Amino acid sequence: MPQVKLAPSILTADFGRLADEVRAAEVAGADILHLDVMDGRFVPNITFGPLLVEALRKVTKLPFDLHLMIVEPERHLDAFAETADTINVHIEVSPHINRTLDTIHRLGKRAGVCLNPGTSVAAIEESLPDADQVMVMTINPGWGGQQMIPRQLEKVARIRKLLDAGGYGADIEIDGGVKAGNALQCARAGASVLVCGSSVFNREKSVAESVAALRAALG
Ligand code: DX5
Ligand code: ZN
Repeated sequence: MPQVKLAPSILTADFGRLADEVRAAEVAGADILHLDVMDGRFVPNITFGPLLVEALRKVTKLPFDLHLMIVEPERHLDAFAETADTINVHIEVSPHINRTLDTIHRLGKRAGVCLNPGTSVAAIEESLPDADQVMVMTINPGWGGQQMIPRQLEKVARIRKLLDAGGYGADIEIDGGVKAGNALQCARAGASVLVCGSSVFNREKSVAESVAALRAALG
């Protein structure tokens, strides 16, 4: 099994000391920083936009994995082009996904396609050759700290088979409810990147302890 990457999400971090939280994740050995942009329309919650992402760009060298939970994501790609490394858009709000992925590539970024728990694999199947990443939501997006919907791991396994059969190199990223207790299961289902929100930024353990626990669980 190839090395699985850990992508802490700042959603449950302390926003009053966000720079310190991000630096702690980098020092702890995180591979990627996952940034959840929500618009109060595609999902009920509202988080942050390009200004915050630009501010964080100055405090860490970690690659930025941008998760756009917004309607009409194609209208905002330019605004994130300077700061993101990977831009992920939801299939449910991207009727012209091929064009959207192409636009992201033209901006010089990796392009990801995300699907909600209620969206079937068929919806993204035609995008597999064009995507650098498929993000499988294992919760209904909107908040951190939810329980993983275990059945979604079967979906991950199906996407892994399709990628392997087609010879496509896209990463599979799992987002939602990843914990030390299920990280290995996620990797075995075929994920190569795990988003870790409340399992990294929480009140029980330090960021360093949390990242170490996830690494240990992956073996
Ligand atoms: C939720 C976000 C997630 C969130 C995950 O809509 O997309 O990235 O931060 O948080 P946990 O890991 O706590 O489920
Ligand atoms: Zn996310």
